[in-house]
Amino acid sequence: MANTILVGAQWGDEGKGKIIDVLTEEADIVVRTQGGNNAGHTVFIGKQKYVLHLVPSGILRQGKLCVIGNGVVIDPVGLVGEIEGLVALGIKIDSNLMISETAHLVFPYHREIDAQREILKGKNKIGTTKRGIGPAYGDKAARTGLRMIDLINPSRFEPMLRQKIKENNEILKAFHAAPLSFKKVHDAYRAAGDKLRPFVTNTVVKLHEASRRKASILFEGAQGTFLDIDHGTYPFVTSSNTTAGGACTGSGVPPNRMDRVVGVMKAYTTRVGEGPLPTENAEIADMLHNMGREFGATTGRARRCGWFDAVATRHATMVNGIDELAVTNLDGLDSLETIKVCIGYRYGSLRVDYVPNDIETFSKCEPIYAEFQGWKTPTDQVKQWKQLPAKARSYLKAIAELTDAKLTIASVGPSRDQTIFL
Ligand code: IMP
Ligand code: MG
Repeated sequence: MANTILVGAQWGDEGKGKIIDVLTEEADIVVRTQGGNNAGHTVFIGKQKYVLHLVPSGILRQGKLCVIGNGVVIDPVGLVGEIEGLVALGIKIDSNLMISETAHLVFPYHREIDAQREILKGKNKIGTTKRGIGPAYGDKAARTGLRMIDLINPSRFEPMLRQKIKENNEILKAFHAAPLSFKKVHDAYRAAGDKLRPFVTNTVVKLHEASRRKASILFEGAQGTFLDIDHGTYPFVTSSNTTAGGACTGSGVPPNRMDRVVGVMKAYTTRVGEGPLPTENAEIADMLHNMGREFGATTGRARRCGWFDAVATRHATMVNGIDELAVTNLDGLDSLETIKVCIGYRYGSLRVDYVPNDIETFSKCEPIYAEFQGWKTPTDQVKQWKQLPAKARSYLKAIAELTDAKLTIASVGPSRDQTIFL
């Protein structure tokens, strides 16, 4: 397989975990390059459900090297818990996992400040996962962060953490929040550091060595295009580059080594947290929630749901350079009489065919819809393109065409065999 970047083309939760798992079959290495344990990738193998937050989904297949790259922010206690949970389910984790020395760490003060800032924002809150992601990337950009390489070096870690706890306790005091105990944080983090030490290495060098041996790499995106810190609906975004460029900076593998970009999108739209979602619709949300679908893998929150937004996905194709599309959750639409697709926005008397940068403008954009006939047939057992109802095929072709990329995968359920290749 060619080196492949996989990105979410919407607001996250596009079903990337499953598509990554399917594509991993042909990859040698799977790399996470951004985000932290705000991500939640759900993968079903048979009846067993696996939820991954930091560990690349490739871990579920034997013989794949999984890398947590330099662009990721790591909560080491959370990561140890995740690894132990996977091991308890029978997953082998030893030399098949590598963690970058230069990945930054998430601390309890990041989580607490994340939560306090949300309280302070009141009704303007972002709706973060409260995993401390924003403050951790903030420290990284401010050059005051601690990294994996510090965690596994006890004599260096202790004074650095002491200083950080002192500084952050002052900040917490200003929020009228409880201070943190240096000793408690230190002991928990050092214990996690000892468990993670065997995995920590220079992943940039390791990836290039593997590349020279012609290993193929899959870059597994987390979150989605419109949560990108630069290209998303700022400030209602996460704090990393979720778009294709993040795969390069977050791994040290340069752009000219990348062969293709695969965009994953749902056959409709969802979003967790606050911020604009022009096609949001209560009816489709109720329908999906009543089917037991669209609850967050990380926070359990009910996701906001809406019709497919082709203006947004076309924008995602543009900024990511998406060559191929995987459309997931087609079966979620199986019972509908008619299906709407947003093909443009109306802003006052103007028609807008792109995603406006101004959040106020975007919030006031009304979708212009095209309507498609529903197929009203279950698709979850369909294995081949030709077996799909004709109306479902037309719908898929139309949304791919509107998105301006080539449809190569349609997914009709969570398991590996519910995947149609075109
Ligand atoms: P944060 O990443 O926890 O700071 O959250 C910022 C925004 O990104 C919030 O709207 C979250 O709901 C959203 N977000 C973060 N991670 C994910 C994800 O993995 N899937 C979907 N939304 C996410
Ligand atoms: Mg998710």
